[in-house]
Amino acid sequence: MRLTDLTIRPTSSDLTRPSSPAAPAPLLVPPLRIGNVVVDPPILQAPMAGYTNFAFRQIVREFGGAGLQATEMVSARGFVWLTEQECENPDRLWGVKEEARPLAVQMWDNDPETLAKVGERLAKEYEVSVVDINFGCPVKDVSERAHSGSYLLRFPEKIGAIVERVVKACAPTPVTAKIRLGCSRDKINAIEVAKVVEASGAAALTVHGRTAADFFKGSADWENIAAIKPHLKRMPLIGNGDLDSAAKVVEAFRRYGVDGVMIARASLGRPWLFQQAAAALRGQPIPPEPTIEEQKACLLHHYALVCERFGDERGTTLMRKFACNYAQGLKGARFFRTHAAKVLTKVEFLAVVEEHFPRGQNLVAADSRIPLPTNP
Ligand SMILES: Cc1cc2nc3c(=O)[nH]c(=O)nc-3n(C[C@H](O)[C@H](O)[C@H](O)COP(=O)(O)O)c2cc1C
Repeated sequence: MRLTDLTIRPTSSDLTRPSSPAAPAPLLVPPLRIGNVVVDPPILQAPMAGYTNFAFRQIVREFGGAGLQATEMVSARGFVWLTEQECENPDRLWGVKEEARPLAVQMWDNDPETLAKVGERLAKEYEVSVVDINFGCPVKDVSERAHSGSYLLRFPEKIGAIVERVVKACAPTPVTAKIRLGCSRDKINAIEVAKVVEASGAAALTVHGRTAADFFKGSADWENIAAIKPHLKRMPLIGNGDLDSAAKVVEAFRRYGVDGVMIARASLGRPWLFQQAAAALRGQPIPPEPTIEEQKACLLHHYALVCERFGDERGTTLMRKFACNYAQGLKGARFFRTHAAKVLTKVEFLAVVEEHFPRGQNLVAADSRIPLPTNP
């Protein structure tokens, strides 16, 4: 069923209002099927390098609402090299073997054999639910230097060869791909790439509605995401870009006919966003933003998980950026950031959070909080 076929009664403002007696009418969005994996609700937590590690995923899982979570992208070549050196698994696979399913692991490279080898290990040894391949990363080290990620959008036939090989190696574990609209605005070729990805046996495609040249400039172009849908025969389409509220998630389904949506930056300081979006899709009252005290407690819980894994020193450094994300959009965030960005020890971290974590209400509606990180 397409969302455009459904009657949607609530307006955007209804959907962003905290729990009220006038709950939105039920919105029947069918669960997304990625091969044998049921993604319910069809809201996916995006892969984000440097952010979506086990600790972040665990926090999101505790709030609920993400039907499928993803790791940070893993270098397939790096993984093979570490194995040859008899080193430990990549840090980016922290927690993957033990944690709850469904879980997707994303990998990148440009060599079908290397990707197939790693994909097979992820599927068989790690027993992940979904193996995702990155064809969208515009960062120079991945794209221009390693001729991977978004660089490959120039060569749809190469993408096809990679997907086909990885699908074969991972079967029956489903393989998905994540792309941008194209390399640049004058070279948008997402429809062509999507058709190739589908013909090569992928179980779903995620499209970030920007081009590689855009990086994060401008807004995501959802019209061009929607334009892909009529060209697909069986493969579900997941739309991604700029979703930062429950209302926008509902709008994405309603207006653009996607089968699923993926949320990235907006969830970094607001891991409860999935829960809010899921409630909106189910027609339930949207849980209000947690109180400032609850947000602070969430940050400290996140910090404890990171320190447990990396130790207090490294954990403190790693958590600086997350601490800033949690404060973002709150009154006093800038002041907090200047302190949080400098902390070196656990004692300092806890003291800064205790003394300077914003006490004020949201500066702006949660809806329009602009996410911080812009490095993809
Ligand atoms: C810090 C950061 C790291 C990212 N890392 C990845 C990644 O590892 N793999 C990937 O496919 N996309 C990555 N992305 C892109 C996001 O998954 C997503 O496509 C993009 O941020 C647009 O969605 P949004 O507007 O909801 O943030 C990253 C984005 C950011 C901001």
